[in-house]
Amino acid sequence: MDHHILEMRAKFEELFDCSKDARLFFSPGRVNLIGEHTDYNGGHVFPCALEIGTYALVSKREDRELRFYSLNEAKAGLIQTDLDHADHYDPALGWVNYVMGMIHVFEKHGYTIPSGWNMVVYGNIPVASGLSSSASLEILIGYILKTLFGFEVSGTDLALMGQEDENKYIGLNCGIMDQFVIANGKKDHALFLDTATLEYKTVPFVLKGRTLVIMNTNKPRGLKDSKYNERRAECEKALEILQSRLNIKTLGDLTDEEFDANADLLKGDVIYKRAKHAVYENTRTIKAVEVLRKNDIEAFGKLMDASHDSLRYDYEVTGAELDALVDAARSVKGTIGSRMTGAGFGGCAIAIVEDEALEEFKKTVREEYIQKIGYEPSFYEAVVGDGPKEIKE
Ligand code: GLA
Repeated sequence: MDHHILEMRAKFEELFDCSKDARLFFSPGRVNLIGEHTDYNGGHVFPCALEIGTYALVSKREDRELRFYSLNEAKAGLIQTDLDHADHYDPALGWVNYVMGMIHVFEKHGYTIPSGWNMVVYGNIPVASGLSSSASLEILIGYILKTLFGFEVSGTDLALMGQEDENKYIGLNCGIMDQFVIANGKKDHALFLDTATLEYKTVPFVLKGRTLVIMNTNKPRGLKDSKYNERRAECEKALEILQSRLNIKTLGDLTDEEFDANADLLKGDVIYKRAKHAVYENTRTIKAVEVLRKNDIEAFGKLMDASHDSLRYDYEVTGAELDALVDAARSVKGTIGSRMTGAGFGGCAIAIVEDEALEEFKKTVREEYIQKIGYEPSFYEAVVGDGPKEIKE
């Protein structure tokens, strides 16, 4: 734990005077290893929770008032609202909308929240990095509501409510992956999730002698104004057309061969490429877990590479920045595989790199990226961590 926790305590003390009964909670960020843009297509994903995330110090109030302060948004100062104002998105509330959305969704599902609270928040997930700072906050709030007020809510319920917040309150049609892995994350494991059934298995993900490097494009982006919702609509269109011939519920129901045999229905249209990605990426994800279970990291890396290429040429969600990072990463001897992670359009890419090559890797990628894009990327070494928890100091 770093000095930010002390800073949170000091701020809490200053704003709300008594900090002694404040409780400290944490919720992680996430990185997806493979299975991109498959989660709203009934396919598989393979993400893991990270040790970076979002912290909150919180204490219940006697009334229905809510008070928020974020160390990351210090300029916004103290934000004041109350439990009776959670019925719609309010631009004036900024980041607190994610919280109000969770309140709204909990109440909608029949959980009556009896009192308000005071809260100081701090997050160390770089914002707009595609490492799910928003889902981290949503699940943090859900976990706090569950714990403070004794609601019986499973990890899957938390994930579904976080997704509902994002879809209906915030207005981004995201799938279930981010909220799910954050709510159910397990140290040193990735989650192999079937998004059609929400069944999942945890699979050990420990890289001996190698590191999972996260590379941030540092390109500012907001998913709400990205082509995310457009890609989702394109896949829905493709599914509808395929359903005129096939008895399927999602694109994830198709094998590569079944897709190819029916692709004549889509050919000539851009939705052919979108649907092809969704189907092939699902197959790649299933294969990736198989090879990882056999400890074949090289094969895993090749599937990561193929995933990126498909996201670049067929799904078209990478962009110059992510491609520059991945191209540079692949040029380094000692890189086992590299791909964008998350929604794309900026955000982060990942690479599995031999430990001996790590310094050379960062140097080369940095130089090539600056040369092509004009500003610095950032690098983090991923540490795979647990889901949400209360931290008792
Ligand atoms: C974002 C969404 C997820 C998922 C990914 C792409 O992170 O929130 O639901 O669709 O993009 O795989």
